Amino acid sequence: MTGGPPRPYSADAELAESGARRISYSQRSMPLLEALAARFRADRPFDGMTVAACLHVTAETAVLARTLRAGGAQVALAASNPLSTQDDIAAALAAGDGVAVFARAGVDRRTYYEHIALALGEYGATGPDLVIDDGGDLMNTLHDLLPRGNVSPRGDGLPARGTPAPRPPGSPRARRGSPPPRTPLARTPLGGCEGTTTGVLRLRRMAAEGALAFPVIAASDTPVKRLVDNTRGTGQSVIDGLLRASGVMLAGKVVVVAGFGACGTGIAECARGLGARVLVTEVDPVRALDAVLSGFRVLTLAEAAPIGEVFITATGTAEVITAEHMAMMRDGAILANAGHFDVEIDVRGLEALAAVVHPDVRPHTDMFELPDGRRLLLLAEGRVVNLVAADGHPPEVMDLAFGIEALALAWLAGNAEKLTPDVHPVPPDIDAEAARLVLAALGADIDSLTPAQRAYLASWHLGS
Ligand code: ADE
Repeated sequence: MTGGPPRPYSADAELAESGARRISYSQRSMPLLEALAARFRADRPFDGMTVAACLHVTAETAVLARTLRAGGAQVALAASNPLSTQDDIAAALAAGDGVAVFARAGVDRRTYYEHIALALGEYGATGPDLVIDDGGDLMNTLHDLLPRGNVSPRGDGLPARGTPAPRPPGSPRARRGSPPPRTPLARTPLGGCEGTTTGVLRLRRMAAEGALAFPVIAASDTPVKRLVDNTRGTGQSVIDGLLRASGVMLAGKVVVVAGFGACGTGIAECARGLGARVLVTEVDPVRALDAVLSGFRVLTLAEAAPIGEVFITATGTAEVITAEHMAMMRDGAILANAGHFDVEIDVRGLEALAAVVHPDVRPHTDMFELPDGRRLLLLAEGRVVNLVAADGHPPEVMDLAFGIEALALAWLAGNAEKLTPDVHPVPPDIDAEAARLVLAALGADIDSLTPAQRAYLASWHLGS
């Protein structure tokens, strides 16, 4: 550990004790990370390496940090959302696990980015060997700190490494200004891992411009993660956050889900499972068809606005629910966002529309009263509702998601030099290995192909 500025986590011993208890509780449901910690303890894939992580600071993230520590890594952790940090977990990790934590719940945007920069610089100006990100804010900050003038090998005259990628319109930093300049890092990390669809999209845009300086594995794209995390995990935890914040009964309610990708599908199915009448809005005809064939009514947001009682955005894009939509909504309509960034619901438009704002009518619920008396309820300030108003995905889900990322990081530790600075898929063996280890931990055996079946599958001559 180095000295440096005071670490912005709470050093409260009572808080750390409660955090440690919650980490142990989650750890019991994370057999894959437990198996990997045992393997890493023997193999030490990260010996002498530093890992900078930008993740929601939850009990499940703590178990991942412990797993990386078991493999010999020094770990510095910043939050991937200003509101999602669980302070007791941050305190426990810092106090008991030798992790340098830069996170506190409810920090402003400037502090949030400052924390990421501090995590990147924690182990000296050389910067981390490996990085793990959730949404792309670490990658952006990191690329701002890399030495300038380094043209990416794929650059072909495109922007130099370290040239900040243009911010997508509506991105938090585009809207509210850049963080202050900081000390540049001396070298580029070996590689990294990104766990969200939003982050992978940002990385692909960077790579297309030749601005990505090192290889990154897109962990959100594996079949296992899509199935377990994006669909099941998001479905359950978003509804959990919605219910905790609003306290409403979903049975019989008209719930509008904007976006029918992997996340929206899970949310729509979970809401239907609780008896809601679910409507879906989409821009993609194939997904819209999928929604129709799954039994959902598909319509435009303008059509849905006056009839919905609960609106949940899960699109990954900006300006989905606008002030015009809100102006048509029923009294008592609830607005929640499941997307990574707080750009899907026009919160400023809602503020402008309201005659009176009643903050915190329940924890994580603000009520906006319109001039005609109608009231709209905004959950979690329009930020990712499952992590702000609830605990995020359950540990079983994060076990697989983080297990894949831990395996990918270990693979990168030994193989990153073979990869170009681009966005790469998770090596297929890793996905299958993660699934196999979890099945083994759950006591589920599977069959193997017989030699005859292999021959059948390998041949095009064999028909009926
Ligand atoms: N993303 C979604 N759920 C999460 C959790 N429980 N911990 C960390 N990141 C998450």
